[in-house]
Parts: sequence; structure tokens; C-alpha cells
Amino acid sequence: MQDNTNNSSPCCGCKANQSGVDPSRREAIKMVSLGSLSAIPFLSTTAKGQSASLLLVDADAEQDFKPLRPSDLAIGKPLLVFPFDTKTGAPKNESRANKLVVIRLPEDQMEAATKARSAGGVLAYSALCTHQACDVKTWLAKEKVLVCFCHASKFNLLDGAKVVDGPASRPLPSFALKLEGEFLAITPSSPANQGS
Ligand code: FES
Repeated sequence: MQDNTNNSSPCCGCKANQSGVDPSRREAIKMVSLGSLSAIPFLSTTAKGQSASLLLVDADAEQDFKPLRPSDLAIGKPLLVFPFDTKTGAPKNESRANKLVVIRLPEDQMEAATKARSAGGVLAYSALCTHQACDVKTWLAKEKVLVCFCHASKFNLLDGAKVVDGPASRPLPSFALKLEGEFLAITPSSPANQGS
């Protein structure tokens, strides 16, 4: 497939094209281009000593935030989420770079290292495509891949979000989950896979 790295078409997950890139997308592209998660805001604040648990809430929720349980997710239906700080009672949604995609998939189809990062059959990855930072949120059940509709990169979520097609050159960074009671939470050791 042709590499569209310099493609200037508008994309999903942002409101402007490359000639008028909105600030949140510029930040996300910068994070992706670094090839590292060090620039993800919620990870850097956690590293500064915020030890409260980070649960997960629907990225579209504006109030009445409800932490997610595995049973809230239908198998094969991705959901965009933000980490939710139990200490402040607020989602860490100040940046697109904090957005994750979670999906519940059959555990017996996961590679061992991927399964080890799941909880209740749920996997969590950065929702920003490692090509040009569009949101990645569509599951193709037949191919068992997550696809980015900007330039058609496909990621195998059952095996660490490895790239199986398209111009993206790195996996989606992954986050290890655990259960806190009945709720999904990001483990302190996340990320387990830096997407490199
Ligand atoms: S942003 Fe280009 S494939 Fe996702």
C-alpha cells in the first residue's frame, strides 16, 4: 500500500486538515512522531506521584461518569475511553493524547503476552493511530483487526496491535489492565508495550 505520510486530506478524529491543524491534533501528532508514550499527559502526571487508581469512562460522557466493567462491553465492539481519576472524580480528557480504545475479545484467541495485559477479556490501546494520529476505532470482525479509516492502517489487537496493513509503522501502544472490584483499571506498570 502507498505511504500517504504527507497526505493532506481531512481525517476522522480531528476538525481540520494539515494546513489548519487544530492544537489537540498537533499535540497528538507530536506524541505519535516521538515514537514514545512519554508525551502522553495522563502518564506523565501519574509519574509525578498521583497514585489514585485510573479507571476508565466513556470518552463521550460529559457528566455522570460511570466507570466501565468488562460486562459493559459487547464482544468485538470497541469503545473510546478516557482514564478516570478516582481521586478527583474527573476524567483525564484534557488531551486527545489521553484517549484509549478498549475492546472485549475472546481470551483464547489472544497471544500470551497480549492476554497477560487483559482483564476480563478486555484489551486497552492508545486510540491514536501511529501513522498520523487519527482515532482508531473500527473493528473488522471478519479480519479480526482494528482499522484506521484515514489511510487504512490495520492493527492486530489479539497480538499486541501489530500492524498488518497500511502506512503505520508501529503498533498501537498498549496498556495493561486489571480489575479493581468489578471495574477496569489501568495498572501502575502501564504501558507494557510502547508501540515501538
Ligand atoms: S492516520 Fe494514517 S492510517 Fe491512521
